[in-house]
Amino acid sequence: MQIGKKIIHLDTIDSTNNYAANLVKEGKIAHGAVILADEQTAGRGQRGTLWASNAGENLLLSLYVTPDNLSVENQVALTHFSSLSVVEFLRKIGISAHVKWPNDIYVGSKKLAGILIENTICGGNIKGSIIGIGINVNQLNFSTIQASSIQLEKKEFVSIETVLFSLISEFNAFWPLLNSGNLEQLKILYLDALYLINESAFFEDESGEFEGIIRGVSSGGQLLLEKAGVVRKYELKEIKFIGRNKS
Ligand code: BTN
Repeated sequence: MQIGKKIIHLDTIDSTNNYAANLVKEGKIAHGAVILADEQTAGRGQRGTLWASNAGENLLLSLYVTPDNLSVENQVALTHFSSLSVVEFLRKIGISAHVKWPNDIYVGSKKLAGILIENTICGGNIKGSIIGIGINVNQLNFSTIQASSIQLEKKEFVSIETVLFSLISEFNAFWPLLNSGNLEQLKILYLDALYLINESAFFEDESGEFEGIIRGVSSGGQLLLEKAGVVRKYELKEIKFIGRNKS
């Protein structure tokens, strides 16, 4: 089924990811279903954080996909697929977005969108994936200065419906790469959109701040970071980005 053929639009819900998970459990949705809400009362972010969003101002959605043959070892392809879809949509409307590893969507030093992926596994394969995406569309004020929205970038109101359908069209453009096993191509495109790749920048790991260079991502999705001439793999919790300049 095409992505976005079934769209469920809710006024208010705790979290579209939770709602989608329940529908999956009850067998009520299939591959390609999109759940969106005007407001979330308990929107979830990565690593147990909250995803706050003013009611009716942003795109809050969960996409449910069931890859035909994606092994657990290759599950990072879902991160590549979803980040690329968001970045490509933003670039098409003139916003030069990039992916901050692993899947935060940034414009310059400001976060414009976030992604929370929740997979179910069966017999070593990904049975289903709920890809939760929050894109700041028309919100103008944030509690942190490190956030932005489409309206802030474009200096004009953009309808959430337009964003939704443009994003769905990117999902449909990138899905065949993932589902036909063209994961290398998906990864190349992802690396192309990766912030600070092959550039000298500052990071912090367990032994303190250092200057390093992002060299790519491993097949398991870890960050490959060159430190003092040696490339090391980092998990998300092991590394902090400082930026182009020292803190
Ligand atoms: C992040 O921390 O960057 C990920 C944020 C993901 C937020 C979206 S909004 C729609 C979906 N439902 C949720 O509860 N979270 C995701």
